[in-house]
Amino acid sequence: MTTSSDRPEPATRSHQVTSAQEFDRLFAREQADNAFSQLVHRVDPHLPPGLGPFSFLCTSLLHHISAQLHLKDGQMLADLGCGPGGPGLWLAGRARAALTGIDFSAVAITAARHRAAHLPVPAVFSVADLVSLPLPDESVDRAVSLDALQYVPDRTTAAREARRILRPGGRLVLTGWQPRIPGDERLPGRHRHTDWHSVLRATGFTEICTVDDPAWDTAYQEIYRHALAVPSERETALAGLQGEARRRLPTAHLLRRIAVTAVR
Ligand SMILES: C[S@@+](CC[C@H](N)C(=O)[O-])C[C@H]1O[C@@H](n2cnc3c(N)ncnc32)[C@H](O)[C@@H]1O
Repeated sequence: MTTSSDRPEPATRSHQVTSAQEFDRLFAREQADNAFSQLVHRVDPHLPPGLGPFSFLCTSLLHHISAQLHLKDGQMLADLGCGPGGPGLWLAGRARAALTGIDFSAVAITAARHRAAHLPVPAVFSVADLVSLPLPDESVDRAVSLDALQYVPDRTTAAREARRILRPGGRLVLTGWQPRIPGDERLPGRHRHTDWHSVLRATGFTEICTVDDPAWDTAYQEIYRHALAVPSERETALAGLQGEARRRLPTAHLLRRIAVTAVR
């Protein structure tokens, strides 16, 4: 496991935007067969049963996130880009905390509400964009964002929003990918210039720490490899993931899977 520190900040570049409607379609297909989350559980059978991620999680990354959050009994966790809610509910439940989940996909939010209804976690979910959070200033103790913030075209505004809702001393933990070579033209635009350390520092976060781990890279690539090994029919969630795997695997080694922690 390695950590990186200060790097010069490249400007945020434009990249292909994935809309709420596209995510709605993805989640509608995922609801039909849970193909993605089942695959993630198959690649790492040690993940907590029922976690149901729609992100490239593995056990060691999940425990790293949980340890970095320092979430305590009775506190409020915000899950930014919560999707169908599985990992955020698990993190909040484990700490006996409350959860507020935000996502711009109405389909994901409906699924998250259903999931939460069966769990003893006080949770509310809202449909909103991460650049305009429907939460008051200094209203949450912790924030987590798992494989979501890379989709937001204006990352600086999203980071500013995350900081605005956190109480002083509150912590943000995000996961994503960073290029091994900044600006690497072989990478999709979304990842080519990612530098969360610079974005978070520019928006006033402190104690920013970026961690990577080869095991997290392996889990990410294994999920794609497992997807490609399974026969699928057209128009299923699995078929969609297979298309993504064919596009992404050839350049996956050019990315570092990262978790970034920052303090408000
Ligand atoms: C890869 S999924 C991760 C879901 C969830 N964090 C998990 O771990 O299962 C990314 C999520 O980010 C959401 N998202 C992307 N851009 C967003 C935006 N601008 N505002 C709100 N949600 C967004 C998507 O709808 C999707 O649910």
